Amino acid sequence: MTTEYTTRITEAVVDSFDGTADPRLRELLAALTRHLHAFVREAEPTMTEWEQAIAFLTATGRACTDTRQEFVLLSDVLGISMLVETINSEGRGGRDERDERDEGEGKEERGESEGPDGVTESTVLGPFHMTESPVRELGADIDLVGGGEPCVISGRVLSRDGTALPGAVLDVWQADAEGYYDVQQPDVQPPGNGRGLFTADADGRFWFRTCVPSPYPIPTDGPVGDLLRATSRHPYRPAHIHFIVSAKGHTPVTTHIFVAGSDHLDSDAVFAVKESLVQDFTETDDPSLAQRFGIPNPFRHARFDLVLGPGDSSATDGSERS
Ligand code: BEZ
Ligand code: FE
Repeated sequence: MTTEYTTRITEAVVDSFDGTADPRLRELLAALTRHLHAFVREAEPTMTEWEQAIAFLTATGRACTDTRQEFVLLSDVLGISMLVETINSEGRGGRDERDERDEGEGKEERGESEGPDGVTESTVLGPFHMTESPVRELGADIDLVGGGEPCVISGRVLSRDGTALPGAVLDVWQADAEGYYDVQQPDVQPPGNGRGLFTADADGRFWFRTCVPSPYPIPTDGPVGDLLRATSRHPYRPAHIHFIVSAKGHTPVTTHIFVAGSDHLDSDAVFAVKESLVQDFTETDDPSLAQRFGIPNPFRHARFDLVLGPGDSSATDGSERS
């Protein structure tokens, strides 16, 4: 039901922000007010329902600690984290100037991860990048426990025109073969398990060993878990490895490689799957390649090239690290 009052109050609240010195803050508050009021006019919550909503948000805040961010998780399961991430990363590559390159070799074969902008697509950061990844040499095994199926991840970091980016820094983290991050099991996993900070070589190449990741559930022991249960939604994320890749003069990308064929690729609890990021972890029977990677033969091998768009020249690369 829309009365003159329920329309007028929206403009009154928007106008109340007129004195906000920061114009961007004023714009954000005005849009927030209009959309929240529109929600209330459409859904017409009862007083009891509104109290339940306030109680839910209160519980979400109370569930936050130094090592747990329930509000981020809420933003994730509502698809807001992915919307913000994608809106902010779109246009990084300059679609009109997209370069034609790499004739002959198929995209799938190379393990490329480019979206329509010609740069690697971004996806959600997630809550488990809370600790600094240990610096590791190229080829190191980030699976410190040796619990899962061994695999090699290799690829190149490239500029949009195909130029290699030597010294690019790759921050990598993943859950173990059971689906837990080291920070979730401080009494079980050694710190730094499943994590590594790598510097690409002179050709922009990187490679490291790990175990094939598994799908895992996001934390469900808080209010976000209650929301998922109340809506009959499952909490699983498809198997993936996280990357943040940066290089001098380029815009960093926060992304994942997803394991092709993993369960939940089409129903990720946080809506973070982009098709260009799904790559085969190919069963490889090649004793000489296995020897080069220092891995028992046969092994699984995923190739993942990362393409960065132009950007902030102050972004770090490996040359600054001691
Ligand atoms: C993750 O992939 O680590 C993650 C992302 C969003 C919510 C929970 C976990
Ligand atoms: Fe994850």
